[in-house]
Amino acid sequence: MKQTLPCVLLLLFIIATTSLFSSTTADQDVKDSTGNKVLDNVPYRIGPVTKGGQIKLTDTIAKKKVCPFNPVQDPAQNAIGSQFRFTMPRKTKYLRTSSVIGIDSGSSKLDQCNESTFWTVPDAEAKPPSNLITTGGGFDQAITCFQIVGYPKPTNPKVHSYMLQHCPSFCGAGPSTCFNISIHMDNGVRRFSTTGGTPFEFVFYKV
Ligand SMILES: *[C@@H]1O[C@H](CO)[C@@H](O)[C@H](O)[C@H]1NC(C)=O
Ligand SMILES: *[C@@H]1O[C@H](CO)[C@@H](O)[C@H](O)[C@H]1NC(C)=O
Repeated sequence: MKQTLPCVLLLLFIIATTSLFSSTTADQDVKDSTGNKVLDNVPYRIGPVTKGGQIKLTDTIAKKKVCPFNPVQDPAQNAIGSQFRFTMPRKTKYLRTSSVIGIDSGSSKLDQCNESTFWTVPDAEAKPPSNLITTGGGFDQAITCFQIVGYPKPTNPKVHSYMLQHCPSFCGAGPSTCFNISIHMDNGVRRFSTTGGTPFEFVFYKV
């Protein structure tokens, strides 16, 4: 009988710590390729874990100029991408998974295109091209609302890899679910969409 109390306490302790750990796995610091914490509103490049090049913001799709610009994956292996800033409306120093973020190339306006460079999903529930990621929206709006999620089964467990979700309702109105972002081929160009399929797995590289 004397043994029971310590046993019960130990059991309670185990239950408490495991539930603590499992509840914190969803909200963690985002880490870059070198294992450092990813900073809010600081330029990073993002690239795939396996094949293809990094993500760039392009003004040309299928040889035609576009405005607003679109984020695309450069198909060339090891191609260097554009710089993007990941910014949380609620200011903190480091990005967390499960925090609301906007993604902006922060680049100045080019040529005749007078649109924002915030990643934007015009209509997450529509078919392509309306559910393809473009730019042009404003910061902290439903159409520019994303979150970073730890990749469920990383290709390389030694590398911190992530996937992106579009979560309109986190920044205002819209469908209350989050949409996984995956690659969608658009006129031979590797764009991003909410269509479904394997989420795009990527890594942060500090500039
Ligand atoms: C760009 O857009 C802003 C706001 O819509 C407008 O005030 C400005 O005149 C535009 N600039 C050009 C060069 O079109
Ligand atoms: C998002 O992707 C994850 C990982 O592949 C998957 O487990 C989950 O079911 C997907 N969610 C939706 C809504 O497709």
